[in-house]
Amino acid sequence: MAEENITISKGLEGIYIADTTLCKIDGQNGKLWYRGYPIETLAEKSTYEEVAFLLLYGHLPTRKELDTFTQKLISEREVPDAIENIIADFSGRMHPNDILRTCVSALPSFDTDMADKSSDANLERAIKLTAKMPTIVAMIGRYKQGKPVLQPSAKLSHSANFLYMLTGKEPDKESSKLIDLMFILHAEHGSNASTFSTLVTGSTLADVYAAVVAGISTLRGPLHGGADEAALNMMKAIGEPDNTETYIEDALAGKQRIMGFGHRVYKAYDPRAKIVYNYLKSFMQKTTDPKIEKLLEIAIRAEKLMEEKLSKTKGIWPNIDFFAGPLYTAMEIPSDLFTPVFAASRVVGWTAHLFEYWQNNRLFRPLDHYVGQLDLKYVPIDQR
Ligand SMILES: CC(C)(COP(=O)(O)OP(=O)(O)OC[C@H]1O[C@@H](n2cnc3c(N)ncnc32)[C@H](O)[C@@H]1OP(=O)(O)O)[C@@H](O)C(=O)NCCC(=O)NCCS
Repeated sequence: MAEENITISKGLEGIYIADTTLCKIDGQNGKLWYRGYPIETLAEKSTYEEVAFLLLYGHLPTRKELDTFTQKLISEREVPDAIENIIADFSGRMHPNDILRTCVSALPSFDTDMADKSSDANLERAIKLTAKMPTIVAMIGRYKQGKPVLQPSAKLSHSANFLYMLTGKEPDKESSKLIDLMFILHAEHGSNASTFSTLVTGSTLADVYAAVVAGISTLRGPLHGGADEAALNMMKAIGEPDNTETYIEDALAGKQRIMGFGHRVYKAYDPRAKIVYNYLKSFMQKTTDPKIEKLLEIAIRAEKLMEEKLSKTKGIWPNIDFFAGPLYTAMEIPSDLFTPVFAASRVVGWTAHLFEYWQNNRLFRPLDHYVGQLDLKYVPIDQR
């Protein structure tokens, strides 16, 4: 291509990288499907285990398939002592997402045959990662709070066990449903930044762990998976519900971004955010904790104001990260664990995309447009 005809797609906006049967996002109309199933249906009727199976295997499981898959996840929940030692070493010094990344980096040392790159071996790795990441995240949370680590409970569901291991309390029916809903809604979302970096790493034929580490690292930033922590921090900074409008108006006047709003693909209400928002409104009527009540009211007032200011005019609607914080707080999940919880759920989306991409792998190797000088005269160091 002649240099003058180059078009730079900043942020790869509008560029398609692969065919997929995993996820369809209709950003104009605010719709989302996993493997053809509307997200609203999965959120209402499914479980995280079932959704994970759907994403990894391509179809909804039969009862027998689900039972086998669930048992497999349960049997893989525990993590080696060496992983706990990493957490113990780093818990005072690193963000939980960085500790999670480090732990996943160490997991290949417990993989009995890293040379086996067959589809079956890779699927096995994905299942192990899916089972172990919530345990690692819960352990990080326990260490951060200076509390003893708890062993997984085989009688609890995938997501309820995570909450139990983190808080030390078996969640009631409502909290179990809510955490499962959050896991389902975070499980997959097309070729977003972290999935893309998983694919970039995988496209070199690096292993599953390396690709997932890339995904976890990419998720961390506030423009992506770090947005829910940042959004909650903003709500905490607002403090009192009556401060909401002034705070947001000042922030917008200062050209600041309101975390948890806006999306590269959705120019309508993020359907996941809509599900969580409806949940949040009903939760608001039930909660008796004044701290949670305040956060929920701030979130609801901020959503209303943003709708007037930006949503309808600029297509900047709330995304799932905006409403996650108050609900996670109600479930006693500390804000610095929000992104690792996201990662623990998204690992099925990352690995499912990776396996799909590997079926037709091509190394990612885009170009950059050189705008510097050429053929400069080299000046020896003592003459510069
Ligand atoms: C997600 C995000 C990076 C996508 O942005 P993008 O597609 O790159 O869009 P741009 O950054 O080009 O923004 C387009 C315009 O909307 C504005 N905008 C986008 N998100 C905004 C937000 N959260 N608050 C205020 N203004 C916002 C930009 O300032 C820009 O305005 P301008 O045209 O006047 O310069 C962006 O919306 C954002 O930073 N959101 C906050 C972080 C977040 O919630 N991330 C989680 C995503 S799931």
